[in-house]
Amino acid sequence: MYLIIGNWKMHPESAKEAVKIYKDTSKSLLKIKNKNLKVGVCVPNVFLFELGKNKKNNLAIGVQDGHFNPTGAETGLTSIKMLASYKPVYGLVGHSEARLRGDDDYVVNQKTLEFMRHKINPIICVGEHMRDPHGDYLKVIKKQIEQACLGLAKKDVANITIAYEPIWAIGNNAKREATPEECLEVTIYIRKVLTDMFGVETAKKVLVIYGGSVDKGDCLGFIEHGGVDGLLVGRASIVPGEFIKIVEQVSNYAKRK
Ligand code: PGA
Repeated sequence: MYLIIGNWKMHPESAKEAVKIYKDTSKSLLKIKNKNLKVGVCVPNVFLFELGKNKKNNLAIGVQDGHFNPTGAETGLTSIKMLASYKPVYGLVGHSEARLRGDDDYVVNQKTLEFMRHKINPIICVGEHMRDPHGDYLKVIKKQIEQACLGLAKKDVANITIAYEPIWAIGNNAKREATPEECLEVTIYIRKVLTDMFGVETAKKVLVIYGGSVDKGDCLGFIEHGGVDGLLVGRASIVPGEFIKIVEQVSNYAKRK
């Protein structure tokens, strides 16, 4: 199974535009028929209502964040429980931009468990700030995974996805893109960490995807040589024409395989 998730981040500016992007993307997806490929977009909470009215089976809707408490004195925040009434399929957690705003390992763990409680599949983002020559970045990734999954029932593990997103390769401030080889090294390591935690049979069911400046030019390299089961696409996912070209290439690859 392959998975491609768009992360719209704080885009677009209006519900009208959000509906247009969603509809255009889902329409273009109609020509891509592949039972082994799932596609979704994680959108700003405020658009869930309008997008829900236009929901299409070929483009799952997910959320980017929510508080782990169901209610509380949290001015300005929305809880995962509140979001759950819109039935999102995926929930991003541990994204580096959310970690930067203060989400530590405890918060990431609580959000993961809360998403799971509401049958929203957590996409747990992990990634290092920099690659040090001693390989300490692998320890960072191991700790992030172990802490995020604390208390997760073994039966639920198959529903999580791990997104490897090296922070130095994300967004407009990216130093450079990661290479498929750099991605492969960490993907293998993530699978080892999962195997040590949950056993080989359970670990095999977890999808590992890559994110960080993925576009139509480099997407296939990560799938072919980076050892991943899919992609988490930021900027390119809000441009339907771009996003579709990524999905198309992954779909064709999945069919050839
Ligand atoms: P980017 O974002 O593709 O714009 O680098 C990826 C992400 O932050 O999920």
